[in-house]
Amino acid sequence: MTSAAPQDGARLRIGVAGASGYGGAETLRWLATHPGFEVCGVTSRRNAGRPVTAVHPHLAGFYDDLVFVEGPRELLAARPDAVVMGLPHRHAAAYAHALRAIAPELRLVDLSGDHRLDDAGLYRAHYGADHPHPEQLTSGAWEYGLPEANRTALEDARLVANPGCFATGALLAALPLARRGLITGAVRHVAMTGSSGSGIEPKAGTHHPERAGDVKAYKVLAHQHTPEVVLCLSRAGLDRATPWWMVPQSGPLARGIFTTLFVDLPPGTTEDAVRAAFAEEYADAPFVRLRDGTPRIAHVRGTNFCDVSVTVAEGIAVVLAAIDNLGKGMASQAVQNLNLMFGLPETSGLLVPGTRP
Ligand SMILES: NC(=O)c1ccc[n+]([C@@H]2O[C@H](COP(=O)([O-])OP(=O)(O)OC[C@H]3O[C@@H](n4cnc5c(N)ncnc54)[C@H](OP(=O)(O)O)[C@@H]3O)[C@@H](O)[C@H]2O)c1
Repeated sequence: MTSAAPQDGARLRIGVAGASGYGGAETLRWLATHPGFEVCGVTSRRNAGRPVTAVHPHLAGFYDDLVFVEGPRELLAARPDAVVMGLPHRHAAAYAHALRAIAPELRLVDLSGDHRLDDAGLYRAHYGADHPHPEQLTSGAWEYGLPEANRTALEDARLVANPGCFATGALLAALPLARRGLITGAVRHVAMTGSSGSGIEPKAGTHHPERAGDVKAYKVLAHQHTPEVVLCLSRAGLDRATPWWMVPQSGPLARGIFTTLFVDLPPGTTEDAVRAAFAEEYADAPFVRLRDGTPRIAHVRGTNFCDVSVTVAEGIAVVLAAIDNLGKGMASQAVQNLNLMFGLPETSGLLVPGTRP
C-alpha cells in the first residue's frame, strides 16, 4: 500500500461537487470533524456565491466562511487533493471527465451510478440513457468502493465508484455467502428505503403526505442497483448468471434502508456454519456489526455502520441488514474510501454511535 497522506501533519484538501444536495451535505457533515481532511471547495450551480450555511443551516459553526462556487474549474482553483461528486448519474461522468481533463492526477469518489458497471449496454438498460464516456466502464480505472469487498484495491485507488445505497445493504448481506459458495439458486431481495434516497428536490413520490403513512413497491425486478450487486458478487465467486430478484419498497421514513435476503443454501448447511461464515468474513470489518436479533434503522442512523443478522431454517438463510442510505449507503462510505485512498486509518473520523429511537 502506498500512503498519499501528507507527512507534515497538514490536512488533505477535499472538494465536494454537488454540495447543495443530500449526498454533498452529508459528506460535509462527516468531513466537518475529520482529523485528516479539510473541505477546500464546494459547488452548486444554483447557489454559487451563497454561503454553505445559508443552504445547510445544520452545518453552522463548521463552515461559516465557505461559499459555493459554480463548476469544475472554480472547484479546482481551491487545489483539492480529492473531490467527492454528489451529482445525478450521466452528469457525474461528464463532470469527472471535465475535472480530469484539467487535473489528471486528481483523486475522485463518485457517489453516482456512472462508474460502477463494466458494460455500456448494461448501463443503458438500467439507467435509461447512453453513458457519456462509455470507455470509462471498461477502462479498469475505477475501483468499486465497498471496502468490505475490495479493501486492498482501494488502498491504491485514484478513482472510486461509491456503491449504490441498496447495493451496499445487499452486498454486505450476501458477501460471506457468495465467497463460500453458499448461494445455490436465485436470490430474493426485498429492501425498504427512506425518502432521502430520492435526493433533495421535492418530487411527487417523496412529498410528505404521499409518503408519510404509506408503503409501496417500485421498480419491481428492475432496479438499477441489481447489476452492480451481481457484478460485485461475481468477483467474490458467485456465478454472474445467478438470478437476482429485487423488490424495492419506499417506506415512511426519511433515512435508512432495511434489507431482507432469502438465500437457498447447500443441503445440510447449519445456522452455526452460516453464522461462522459471517463472523469470519467481517472479523476485520469495523463497520459491520453482527446482531443476534433484528437490525434496526435507528441503531445505524447517522452512522457508517451496517448491522446484520442471519437466521437459517428449512434450507434457506434469511439475512437482514440495516444501513443509513446517506451514511454507509453513501457519504460516510465515501469518507471510508477516502481514508483508504490516502493511507489513513479506515475508521478515521467515522466512529460515532447510532441512535435509539
Ligand atoms: N440519496 C441517496 O440516498 C443516495 C445514496 C447513494 C448514492 N446516491 C447517488 O448520489 C448522487 C447524488 O444524490 P443526492 O441524493 O445527493 O442528490 P441531490 O440531493 O438531488 O443533489 C444533487 C446535487 O447535484 C447538483 N446537480 C444537479 N444536476 C447537476 C448538473 N447537471 N451538473 C452539476 N451539478 C448538478 C445539484 O446542485 P445544483 O443544481 O445547485 O448544481 C445538487 O447539489 C446521485 O447520483 C444518487 O443516485 C444517492
